[in-house]
Amino acid sequence: MHQDNIKDCNVCHDLFPQKAGVIQDLKNQEKLKKKQVMNKKCLKCHRAKKKAGEKTGPTSCSKCHLKPE
Ligand code: HEC
Ligand code: HEC
Ligand code: HEC
Repeated sequence: MHQDNIKDCNVCHDLFPQKAGVIQDLKNQEKLKKKQVMNKKCLKCHRAKKKAGEKTGPTSCSKCHLKPE
């Protein structure tokens, strides 16, 4: 969905490469801070679009952090 909506891959991938599991790896290596991607990318964009009244993704914790059954 993001790849269709946001044409520029580097909107997100300037912070981490195009590789599965890389965010956790970089956090383990302390090259990314905990919540850095969440706050500087995900929430920043979703909140800005919400404020602008545009189509957006979730901004509430439980919509992204699903509780295991
Ligand atoms: C909204 C943010 C965002 C955008 C925009 C985005 N990506 Fe990603 N991409 C991610 C995230 C998050 C991951 C998962 C990283 C991880 O697992 O740590 C990822 C992972 C990937 C992976 C690895 C997936 C896998 O399963 O091997 C590839 C390849 C990738 N992205 C390519 C792209 C390409 C090409 C574009 C542009 C067309 C793009 N991405 C745009 C956020 C984004
Ligand atoms: C749009 C989806 C999204 C929303 C909404 C969201 N998060 Fe996150 N959160 C993420 C992603 C993705 C990560 C992993 C990347 C990172 O650490 O930046 C994360 C990471 C975290 C971490 C760090 C985990 C660790 O130990 O590394 C905490 C704590 C957290 N979120 C709490 C919250 C809280 C509290 C809220 C509500 C205020 C919230 N999140 C809302 C997507 C989201
Ligand atoms: C540059 C803006 C932008 C960034 C950065 C971004 N998103 Fe989104 N996201 C959107 C938009 C726009 C939508 C709504 C797309 C639609 O409804 O067509 C969306 C939708 C979503 C959805 C809802 C998917 C669904 O099935 O309804 C989730 C979950 C989500 N984003 C998670 C994330 C996470 C996790 C990150 C960070 C890794 C992130 N987003 C980063 C713009 C962004």
